[in-house]
Amino acid sequence: MPNLPDSGFHRVASFYDWLARLIYGDALEQAQRSLLPHLPPQGRVLVIGGGSGWLLEQLLKTGRQLDILYIDAAPAMLQRARQRYAMFQKPHQCRVTFRLGTEQTLQPQEQFDAVVTPFLLDLFPPRRLQQLMATLNNALTPNGTWLFADFWPQQQPPPHWQKLLIWGMYAFFGTVSGVKARQLPDYAQHFKSLGYQELYSRSFYKGMVQAKVFVRGKSEELEC
Ligand SMILES: C[S@@+](CC[C@H](N)C(=O)[O-])C[C@H]1O[C@@H](n2cnc3c(N)ncnc32)[C@H](O)[C@@H]1O
Repeated sequence: MPNLPDSGFHRVASFYDWLARLIYGDALEQAQRSLLPHLPPQGRVLVIGGGSGWLLEQLLKTGRQLDILYIDAAPAMLQRARQRYAMFQKPHQCRVTFRLGTEQTLQPQEQFDAVVTPFLLDLFPPRRLQQLMATLNNALTPNGTWLFADFWPQQQPPPHWQKLLIWGMYAFFGTVSGVKARQLPDYAQHFKSLGYQELYSRSFYKGMVQAKVFVRGKSEELEC
């Protein structure tokens, strides 16, 4: 495999979806599906870390007129997404561009009406996550929406079974895919520091997974 940054999911691409379904059933898909109504009716959408393309198919099925940039760092994941797209037979109104790489491939002039991060942000330690989220923030138009789905236990501290699952995931993907994080990020703090507020939230898998929509908060009107 070429030595590309963050490409460790290349090694698990052939069984990642199967493993996720084995452990979580359809909860991870349900979480992502719940975000679809929050897509704009038309516009540019960035899907980053979409994996093998299940979510891309769902976007095509919405009937929306979307210009989608689909970025993934793992060659085998992106290849699967491309194949899935090529096999998609139903009519749709989207234009899709695939790009192998990370958020660092985004150009300053590339702006999106929605950014989707499906089970991506949990992979990074705090400083890297801060940089990644700042990059995505810069790529979002002022009224854009950030569609988020990830492991984020509602109950704090999380129940033991959730702690065990989270520990197991970091141990496995840390070893096999080179994931650097060792614990879930403080997502709320990261979004808050970028000035986002929550517009929608729903939990899945007994509160261990959350789907959320964030928008930039309106700055308070200054009183004279
Ligand atoms: C945990 S998997 C989730 C895949 C898919 N979203 C899903 O829920 O089935 C994370 C995905 O993000 C990709 N990835 C990791 N770091 C990335 C980065 N910096 N930029 C783009 N994609 C990245 C991986 O290659 C992988 O496909």
